[in-house]
Amino acid sequence: MAHLGSDHFLSLTRPDIHVGPSQGVVDTTTLAAHDFDVDTRTGFIPPQTPLRRLPGEWESWEVVLDAAISQKLQLGDSPNLLQSAKDDSESWRGRVQNLPVISIEGMNTSETTLRRAHLVLAWIMHFYVHSLPPSAPIRIPPPITLPLLQVSAQLQLPPVLTYSDDVLYNWHLDENTDDLPTVPTIRCQTTFTSTNDEIEFYLTSARLELAGVDALELMRSTMDEAFVGDDIAIRRITEYLRQLVDVIDRLRVMLLDVKNGCRPDIFYNTIRPWLRGEDSQGGRKWIFEGIEQDSSLVYPTELSGPSAGQSALIHSLDNFLGIDNYGKSSKGTAEGNADSTTRASALMKRMQLYMPRHHRAFLSHLSNNPRPLRDIVLSASSSDTNTAAGVALLDAYNAAVMALKQFRDAHMIVVTLYVVIPARRSRGALASPTTDEAVVDRSAASSDIPHDKGMRDSTLKGTGGTDIIQFLKSVRDNTKEALM
Ligand code: HEM
Repeated sequence: MAHLGSDHFLSLTRPDIHVGPSQGVVDTTTLAAHDFDVDTRTGFIPPQTPLRRLPGEWESWEVVLDAAISQKLQLGDSPNLLQSAKDDSESWRGRVQNLPVISIEGMNTSETTLRRAHLVLAWIMHFYVHSLPPSAPIRIPPPITLPLLQVSAQLQLPPVLTYSDDVLYNWHLDENTDDLPTVPTIRCQTTFTSTNDEIEFYLTSARLELAGVDALELMRSTMDEAFVGDDIAIRRITEYLRQLVDVIDRLRVMLLDVKNGCRPDIFYNTIRPWLRGEDSQGGRKWIFEGIEQDSSLVYPTELSGPSAGQSALIHSLDNFLGIDNYGKSSKGTAEGNADSTTRASALMKRMQLYMPRHHRAFLSHLSNNPRPLRDIVLSASSSDTNTAAGVALLDAYNAAVMALKQFRDAHMIVVTLYVVIPARRSRGALASPTTDEAVVDRSAASSDIPHDKGMRDSTLKGTGGTDIIQFLKSVRDNTKEALM
């Protein structure tokens, strides 16, 4: 495997989750993964190209996925769906029902094969569920249920499409090389709609992950200096925080660049519906048929669709800057704030369940940091030790928090453009682009992003059925409250 040393944990044989490591062998599947699967050059994106196709034994899954993509299966709830499109998707679902139930035993020792299997099976399941007629019960057939739940158990991921499937492990490079992925060279592998809009939607996040490596490096250097903790260390940390401001600014600009390649209406009407999880389906349950055939399986409860809210990069920044204590704040900035902050905190925590387990472990490692940055800033700038260096550190810390707050302001603009406005338009509430601009302007100004004016009958729901705008506002306001 390119770029990975023979002692890297991904190069070692992976112990089956049910069997565990053999005696005397270090368990390399979980916390023991010494570098948390975070690469110093590519961050949370793996340095080596993910497996592009499953080995022969599981080829029939790849074949039905290829068929769904090349037939351009349509959403079952699209308005004006032609009978021929309904017939096509019904016959494709028939093929999925008739697949054999294939054992995953042969892949339990390969992390990269399991990752590809999770991607392929989750993609098939989303095609299956969302191509169904809106009134049909959602029954996922045994040939998908069994391997998907088994693979998910091995990876300790929910059996649903996650950010790791559509972004972290969903790329390739033009040439079949050992080169590392970079912002200009990374390409997207699998999509639902074969549109450039969908490709750009995933690649925007992937590019942010790659650019975010600079932030991870600055975080690491800061922690090294924190260990030393003398005056020179304080000055160096100040410099790192100033550089972090630039990195977060670059991330904000890259996020807003999503507008260059992904059209909001296409995103809202033809891409986002494929990504829906069980909780975005108005109470229609997902039934996993055949689950009783494997007594080791438990009925899934985490079935939210993918979101970049599952990006460990942004959670790491929160963690590092000490912003991840959602709910501890007593300051109210809006009506019902305490409640919504607690809910936002719970949702941010839940999103970690959808991250690869090594990244989850990385975040927990960060939050157990014995020398939290905020404590260092507080003590260096407190009144008894107050020095010019302490004040400079405080300023640099606050600038980094402000940069992250501005990143979240920009994200709210993106959500307004890609979700709020198209949702209103689909209800006929917005007519002209001029009106769109007014809505975006207000969201930029934005302690007051409008979310229920003009759509009084329904609040926009996101992951876990939460009110998207309330959630994003809580997280953004919480960021601001970290200012010292
Ligand atoms: C067109 C692009 C995007 C859209 C439409 C979008 C939409 C959303 C929505 C609706 C949520 C609410 C939570 C949910 O329902 O799951 C959310 C949360 C979140 N998104 Fe995005 N997003 C986009 C791009 C990105 C990118 C590129 C990143 C960074 C890699 C990002 C990072 C986050 C984070 C970290 C959260 C959790 C809330 C927070 O920390 O502020 N998003 N996004």
